[in-house]
Amino acid sequence: MGLFSFLTQEIAIDLGTANTIIIHNDKVVVDEPSIVALDASTGKLLAIGEKARQMHGKTHENIKTIRPLRDGVIADFNAAEQMIRGMIKIINPRQKFFTPTLRMVVCIPSGSTEVEIRAVRDSAEHAGGRDVYMIYEPMAAAIGIGIDVEEPEGSMVVDIGGGTTEIAVIALGGIVCNQSIRIAGDGFTADIQAYMRHQHNIKIGERTAEDIKIEVGSALPDLEDPPRDYNVRGPNLMTAMPIEIPISYQEIAHCLDKSLSKVESAIISVLEQTPPELYADIVSKGIYLAGGGALLRGLDKRLTDKINIPFHIAEDPLHAVARGTGIALKNVDNFSFLLR
Ligand SMILES: Nc1ncnc2c1ncn2[C@@H]1O[C@H](COP(=O)(O)OP(=O)(O)OP(=O)(O)O)[C@@H](O)[C@H]1O
Ligand SMILES: [Mg+2]
Repeated sequence: MGLFSFLTQEIAIDLGTANTIIIHNDKVVVDEPSIVALDASTGKLLAIGEKARQMHGKTHENIKTIRPLRDGVIADFNAAEQMIRGMIKIINPRQKFFTPTLRMVVCIPSGSTEVEIRAVRDSAEHAGGRDVYMIYEPMAAAIGIGIDVEEPEGSMVVDIGGGTTEIAVIALGGIVCNQSIRIAGDGFTADIQAYMRHQHNIKIGERTAEDIKIEVGSALPDLEDPPRDYNVRGPNLMTAMPIEIPISYQEIAHCLDKSLSKVESAIISVLEQTPPELYADIVSKGIYLAGGGALLRGLDKRLTDKINIPFHIAEDPLHAVARGTGIALKNVDNFSFLLR
């Protein structure tokens, strides 16, 4: 660390649809749901992250909770800026009079338009970023997984986040072909909500549906190590009387099948675009899964069986992109693929 290092602070941000992670000095210093609670009349920030999530779906007219990102991109600019600002404050709680210059690397979905990239840059700058660099998420995921992205060798990464599934083939420090689809964790949660309504006449909120996904979510109807049924409570749609229903992982596997097939088709379509030499590298090394969706039970096996290429779940898949962004931060001068 240099003599004046206190004057500049370097942070890496994975601004995700579901979770925002900030890395500072190689450590995860913020890992919070991407959500803010605002005073509905004044717009004042009331809570961010986990605190705001606990209010989600439970607010009255004076409080609104907002998820600033939808489908991987900023949907509410003001809320996004407040969220980034608030999360940076978590790192510097006491610095009221003096704020260090911020150098940051922020990751963006590979399918981002110019306008979407501009929105991320603007909110990062408004939140105090002086030097703002950007990196495509699949590139960050690959670096975070430990792939040497500058080698003349092809690697495929599938990052299933909250809002988007990013599929990319990387070689020689660049993205050779990719696809970003808006089917990911949020979509799976919505599938579960709709299924519970149609199949069981029970109305559940987003949080309960997400709990079901985590407790008994599955990509396969026959798991080797199955979870126990999960009891779901809620109002009956017809009578508004409370009911309780045990939900099995088989049901959830059935309910997620359609969305998972779309993820499979997207992976296959990227493989179709992959140049043959790189294809051969991918077949021999396998395909890496990152993002929270990689934790869905049986997903790696389902994809391996369907596509006939081994799928590996990244170590700590929820933090792979952030880790890679943190490594990029330390190499801003060497990594030519960073956008500025
Ligand atoms: N054990 C689990 N099983 C299934 N899904 C999970 C599990 N744990 C987390 N998830 C899901 O992973 C998603 C969050 O993943 P992640 O943090 O990678 O997304 P993100 O980076 O915020 O979103 P994006 O990259 O799309 O902007 C959520 O939809 C969450 O419900
Ligand atoms: Mg992500």
